[in-house]
Amino acid sequence: MKSRVQLAAFVKTILNAEVPVHELRPEIMAIKEILVSLADFDDRPAEGIAFGESMTDHGLAISPSNAALCVDDYVRTIQFIRGLHQAILDQDKAKVSVLYAGCGPLGVLAIPLLCYFEQGKVAFQLLDIHETSVASLNHIIKALELPDQLITVTCCDVMSYQAPKANMPDIVLLEVMQAGLRVEPQVAASRYLMAQFPQATLIPESVSIEMMLVNPQHEFGLMNDERAAHRIHLGTAFTLNKAVIDSWACLDGLQLPAEGVIIPVEVNDNDCLMEMTSITVYSGHEIEIGQSGLTSALRFDCDVMSFSGQILALAYGLSQNPGLFVLD
Ligand SMILES: C[S@@+](CC[C@H](N)C(=O)[O-])C[C@H]1O[C@@H](n2cnc3c(N)ncnc32)[C@H](O)[C@@H]1O
Repeated sequence: MKSRVQLAAFVKTILNAEVPVHELRPEIMAIKEILVSLADFDDRPAEGIAFGESMTDHGLAISPSNAALCVDDYVRTIQFIRGLHQAILDQDKAKVSVLYAGCGPLGVLAIPLLCYFEQGKVAFQLLDIHETSVASLNHIIKALELPDQLITVTCCDVMSYQAPKANMPDIVLLEVMQAGLRVEPQVAASRYLMAQFPQATLIPESVSIEMMLVNPQHEFGLMNDERAAHRIHLGTAFTLNKAVIDSWACLDGLQLPAEGVIIPVEVNDNDCLMEMTSITVYSGHEIEIGQSGLTSALRFDCDVMSFSGQILALAYGLSQNPGLFVLD
């Protein structure tokens, strides 16, 4: 009971829009400490951080200890909690049902909010592919005495999940991603779940990848706030949101359309392309380029000089190693 009250109090502070996000790391770390103390889970396995990860047909499922580390990316964690809270309020229903895919061993985007909301306002269905994470969460749920009607956890691959007919989610929340929507299965999983629950609100609401041409000396040699002025914006190559997912309804295969970008005629020898990710979690709760591990700038593998003055045609690959690539 004491932990529930503490979690609710930390969430209350996090939701205070007058407190800037960068001041809230202590609250996030305190939430993590409580969750880890209630979990039956080794967050520092002797075998290393990758121990227990698994490769699926649609991307890497990172290990339970690595998933727990995501909590420390506090700007991400705060904006997801704030965005999800707003989305729950906006449902304007007595009881809101949230499906949270890829919940990790701590369920950090669900459990603290569940403790904060008045009992019965929100119910969560959690799922993760790793048995260790599901067992850890069940331990936390039991320790917090959270009733089954408010939270259940299933161990399965999101790509085979079918919601019980009596419990269709109002909100679908996924955080199975990395910068550039690379490596992990966010795109495939969002598409799969939204086909099943087209009426549901998707969180994150939108993820965009912009292509920029940079001079590495400026990009890696300057301070954060000076870098932006030197980047040349070439355009948004890929967006993941409900409307775009709808537009893929008739597509088959392992490739999704992306926008090509025009490479300027004047390209210098050292110039390189970077993928810059930005995320709208929900309704103005944004994670901007460089604010989180999920939005860090990534070098895009391509010989830009050979495309100078031409269109660089791109597509998004839905393989075991998803991400943008150059079309031949
Ligand atoms: C990046 S971690 C994020 C953890 C948690 N959502 C958070 O925000 O802290 C992604 C989680 O998704 C899970 N995952 C990845 N692929 C999955 C899949 N195909 N089916 C179910 N869970 C998956 C991983 O096991 C991992 O726990």
